Amino acid sequence: MRQKFQHYHADLQAVDDRRLNPSEAADLDSIINRSRRQVLKGGLALAAFGLFGTSLAGCQRPAPGTLPAASPLLGFSGVAAQTGADFDRVLVAAGYRAEPFLRWGDAVLDHAPPWQEDASQDWQAQLLQAGDNHDGMHFFPFDDAPNSHGLLVINHEYINPTLHSNGFSYTDLADGRRQRPLAQVRKEQAAHGVSVLEIRREADGQWRRVAGSRYHRRITAMTPMLLSGPLAGDPRMRTASDPSGTRVLGTLNNCSMGVTPWGTYLTCEENFHNYFVNRDAADHASRPTHQRYGIGQGQRSAYYAWESVDPRFDATPDEQQPHQGHVNEPHRFGWVVEIDPFNPDSTPIKRTAMGRLGRECSVVTLDDDGRMAVYSGDDARGEYVWKFVPDGRHDPANPAASRDLLDSGTLYAARFDEDGSGQWLPLIWGEQGLTPANGFADQQAVLLNARGAADQLGATPMDRPEWVAVHPLTREVYVTLTNNRERGERLPLDAANPRPDNQHGQILRWREAGGDPTATTFEWDLFLLAGDQPGATGADGQPLPANLIGTIQGDIFSSPDGLAFDGDGRLWIQTDSDDEATHTVNTGCNQLLCADPQSREVRRFLVGPRGAEITGITWTPDYRTLWINVQHPGISYPASDGRSRPRSTTVVITHEDGRVIGS
Ligand code: FEO
Ligand code: CA
Ligand code: CA
Ligand code: CA
Repeated sequence: MRQKFQHYHADLQAVDDRRLNPSEAADLDSIINRSRRQVLKGGLALAAFGLFGTSLAGCQRPAPGTLPAASPLLGFSGVAAQTGADFDRVLVAAGYRAEPFLRWGDAVLDHAPPWQEDASQDWQAQLLQAGDNHDGMHFFPFDDAPNSHGLLVINHEYINPTLHSNGFSYTDLADGRRQRPLAQVRKEQAAHGVSVLEIRREADGQWRRVAGSRYHRRITAMTPMLLSGPLAGDPRMRTASDPSGTRVLGTLNNCSMGVTPWGTYLTCEENFHNYFVNRDAADHASRPTHQRYGIGQGQRSAYYAWESVDPRFDATPDEQQPHQGHVNEPHRFGWVVEIDPFNPDSTPIKRTAMGRLGRECSVVTLDDDGRMAVYSGDDARGEYVWKFVPDGRHDPANPAASRDLLDSGTLYAARFDEDGSGQWLPLIWGEQGLTPANGFADQQAVLLNARGAADQLGATPMDRPEWVAVHPLTREVYVTLTNNRERGERLPLDAANPRPDNQHGQILRWREAGGDPTATTFEWDLFLLAGDQPGATGADGQPLPANLIGTIQGDIFSSPDGLAFDGDGRLWIQTDSDDEATHTVNTGCNQLLCADPQSREVRRFLVGPRGAEITGITWTPDYRTLWINVQHPGISYPASDGRSRPRSTTVVITHEDGRVIGS
């Protein structure tokens, strides 16, 4: 059965990890020297790293074989890696239940028709049903019964060919382009975006969608949105269909997310470049806002070829049309989109002050005095780690006053220095080369081409930054760097990205100076390098090469992506590795693991079905109900019958005795 669905995914490989940063290649000597320095540096950086009064010197990684007694934070028995080609379910630690909660096609709005196994339903049905590729999500509790009643808000990142009865349909045209059927494109647009559902835990202990709720909502690639901040109304945001430059249709590639202290949801637009094409080669090359972001070029169609039926995705300039047609449409994606889930009539707002990235996430940290920062990863090879600091402060006594806090502030890119210190480099027009001579006419140009501005500032190109998580007590910040096969080749090694041909990725952490979210300096260290244990062998029984060996104390994994802390400070890690590649022969199917940030012990809590990524993580406030997402399973799931169409699925996890998850 695996065979049957395999081809659905074959077409979707490697669109989310392209290297677009034009950094210089390193020469071999500098790679070797940097590697040596990193080896020398490891212990020193750790010794210097204090954890808000608790020295981290005591948490240096123990020598192999001397792992300390099991962490008191990790109160469950780990599960084994699953390396079988036919593994088709969710395996969770003993004592826990993991049950499908919301699958692609399940009803969100009340009048949604029941999903059909043959995937023949049209886009009108899809507009009412859960979208595809569930990713980041958050549970917003209601005050009346916060641990049993709330809104579950779920991103739908992109679409799988399983969305249609027989996969994506194309007609290959004589000029090399592809023509798509409008009905399929509309269904694909309707399967993107966000779902909002009111849910309740009923007397029988089961979580269910609340019938008849006014909060149920689907936001899609067609939903009207507002632009706010410095680029609202800017000429570079105007198009033939929106001469005002203030209104956008839809959100795309909603990957991870964030939550504000005033109770709104921040959905993040990641790989938006896949949806556009600019066929004018000279024009494309002249626009860093296209070129540096990987907007499609040349005579081929864009990845999804939506432009064959929906002209706003054709970003080729057209002098005959107002504002040159849709050449600016790609400028209207790559933003943080703020959604108020408690007001189903509210219009989502794209916050342009926060900069335009291939944005993975927007994770908020808040100081005691209301100052805050929002952290983001930009997930492509050699892109950056980001922080946005609003000008204003959040006042918990007056949350309504924070409504537009994300419309002004300072955007920073991170530089990770070899000695374990770090700098936040501000993207301020007119400073540090962000000048007209270098292509930055004004602050708006800086925000539209934030990647190019960070190049200019000398930020550190990273191994695909994905999720960020902030420790609830110490405010120490962790980021997943998922993998980067070009490291050491096109991108030089450095202390933060120390492994050539980095197939397994790493988790890095930092501590803002003085514990202040708005600080401009920090100290950092590598929490772990993912991959196999020393001495591990591959499928051929031969010892694995050094680049596949990690530093994990405990259960191994590859390609960390999702990352979140629970209220007790357990660090939950979700993986997105290619589980059919040779380097994952021992790590197997993708996973949810739990780590103790002090001892660094890692234990595997859950394994998902073949072909799936494990992503999205949220809890009830008492941390006794956990939701995660199984994204793009490659095998019949959630049905394990070998016949059913695989469906991205939100899974709800509880303990049979109702204990705090993982405790
Ligand atoms: Fe959508 Fe970088 O994961
Ligand atoms: Ca991700
Ligand atoms: Ca990923
Ligand atoms: Ca994904």
